Amino acid sequence: MTEKMKIPFGTISITERSKNIIYEVLATKRVSNGKYVRELEKRFAALIGAKEAIAVSSGTDADILALSVLHDYGAKRGDEVIIPALSFVATGNAVLHAGFTPSFVDIDRNTLNIDPKKIEEAITEKTVAIMPVHLMGKPADMDAITAIAKKYDLYVIEDAAEAHGALYKGKEAGTLGDLGAFSLYLAHIITTIEGGIIVTNNAEFAEVLRSIRSHGRACKCEQCVLNVNSGYCTKRFSNANGEDIRFIFERIGYSSKMNELEAAVGLGNMDEYHTILEKRRENLLYLMNQFRQFEPYLATIEEEPHERIGPHAFPIIIQEGVKFNRNQLVNCLEQQGIDTRNLFSSMPTQCPGFGFLGYQYGEFPNAEYIGKNGIHIGVHQDLGKEECNYVIKEIESFLSKYS
Ligand SMILES: Cc1ncc(COP(=O)(O)O)c(C=O)c1O
Repeated sequence: MTEKMKIPFGTISITERSKNIIYEVLATKRVSNGKYVRELEKRFAALIGAKEAIAVSSGTDADILALSVLHDYGAKRGDEVIIPALSFVATGNAVLHAGFTPSFVDIDRNTLNIDPKKIEEAITEKTVAIMPVHLMGKPADMDAITAIAKKYDLYVIEDAAEAHGALYKGKEAGTLGDLGAFSLYLAHIITTIEGGIIVTNNAEFAEVLRSIRSHGRACKCEQCVLNVNSGYCTKRFSNANGEDIRFIFERIGYSSKMNELEAAVGLGNMDEYHTILEKRRENLLYLMNQFRQFEPYLATIEEEPHERIGPHAFPIIIQEGVKFNRNQLVNCLEQQGIDTRNLFSSMPTQCPGFGFLGYQYGEFPNAEYIGKNGIHIGVHQDLGKEECNYVIKEIESFLSKYS
């Protein structure tokens, strides 16, 4: 009998440099959004080849703020944003929080991403943007999405939360649309524990983002961009009544700044980014290869020649017609020490919070199928061949009971 192992879903690397920065910022008490957040932004932008990066407090906020930029460009509350029916629920929540209505499109079950063939039928006069999600680090079909966006004059905002390190035709996911939103939460390849970051090549969008992450303030001086309440700003403004005031808020904003402690963790992660990425890619590709033997029972995603999948996690989908269900597989894996997560749900029809939008179960069969039959497991940097082989062996042993 094989010895039982522990295969956690995620991990975190906290480097010596991170610890040193944390000690320094605590000692100097310069803990809110400051020079380390700026360093993180510059390095993240350079790493993925974007002109601008704006750090915020979560990946959900990254989605919300990226969408909220559109209010500066004529979008109205109640306008529609097209998103895949299947994603982590934050994608749908973000559209609503930004003041828009989500318009859901079913996914392609092979890619887990929005089915571009179904996008055009969801476009109405109110549609302002398409927000594809690169689920499990597999890039969405960006050529098809960009062509539709051009045809109907729509913005493309990528939810790249899970797509660190993903390439589409040689370009980094997150840089293919007008704006790209990443999560820096614990589960992701670059993490600040909690956090998010938005990338764009449009300097005007970046300026709007720096304003809305700080309550919508107008002043563009360095102190205000970093922290609206720093008290260092000496600028004065005249408001519409001719009154002399200190801070002026020119758009509806959020309080969504990152702090220096979070940036410190992220900077350490970035020092190790290439090693982490390589290790996770090795695990992902090894599992993908090994999984071919389970094809009649279990499926996963494939890496196509035009792309590099960002090694976020390893999705497993139970095939139709098998003699076991997801609970049985999950219970067996968990009993053997292998952490699992569900592969999300069809937001409009499997998440009660979206019930008020009036969709009916059955409208998104592919998303719903994954919602019932999908799980994902970790491929993180603390795992290696031995752990991957253990996972494969445990699945083999589970399946032997049902073949
Ligand atoms: C696709 C997707 N979008 C958005 C988010 C939200 O990120 P966060 O948890 O950092 O708010 C996540 C979370 O990982 C996600 O998977």
